[in-house]
Amino acid sequence: MASTILIFLLSLLISASADSNFIQKTCKLTKHYDLCLSSLKSNSTSASVDAKGLALIMIGVGTANATATSTYLSSQSLSSASNDTVLKRVLKECADKYSFAGDALQDSAQYLASENYDYVAVDVTAAADYPNACHNAFKRFPGLVYPPKIARRDRGLKEICDVILGILEHIAW
Ligand SMILES: *[C@@H]1O[C@H](CO)[C@@H](O)[C@H](O)[C@H]1NC(C)=O
Ligand SMILES: *[C@@H]1O[C@H](CO)[C@@H](O)[C@H](O)[C@H]1NC(C)=O
Ligand SMILES: *[C@@H]1O[C@H](CO)[C@@H](O)[C@H](O)[C@H]1NC(C)=O
Repeated sequence: MASTILIFLLSLLISASADSNFIQKTCKLTKHYDLCLSSLKSNSTSASVDAKGLALIMIGVGTANATATSTYLSSQSLSSASNDTVLKRVLKECADKYSFAGDALQDSAQYLASENYDYVAVDVTAAADYPNACHNAFKRFPGLVYPPKIARRDRGLKEICDVILGILEHIAW
């Protein structure tokens, strides 16, 4: 009896460490190991899924991130502190771009489910490009400065997309 329990506990231990090794190994294949590891570990289902499942979790993180940034930009655009109509317009345009990035990531999850990996990559690449459209909107107006807070979110979303693409490359197509 005691030995059965011991064997059971040992097997739990072995499978748990194998899972965490799998996440680490997968994240080492991406450009942003720490971001990958912390994002995947924040979702408890990551311990029991394959590489495709890890990609799906990361797509969820990216969708939430793009949506959060879109919401942030909308509220900045509406904020009464700024009565600069050009800035408001650019912020609104940026909110739309990040919303499209979220849509593209949501779309990519559908393609992942049906194992259309080429289309997953196309959507994720598109999502990573939308922050550039926002940056370009700022560049159109020489008087506007690209705010560091938006630049950080721009980098953040691109890094998440890089991680998704890195995981995808190592799924056997
Ligand atoms: C964890 O990932 C799954 C997708 O694999 C998702 O459905 C679920 O909402 C995620 N959980 C959290 C807390 O984000
Ligand atoms: C608000 O707009 C007015 C008129 O365009 C301008 O003179 C003023 O400086 C603006 N205030 C702020 C806080 O941007
Ligand atoms: C999105 O990314 C930015 C930049 O890395 C980060 O500050 C923010 O917390 C992230 N938001 C979500 C919802 O993951």
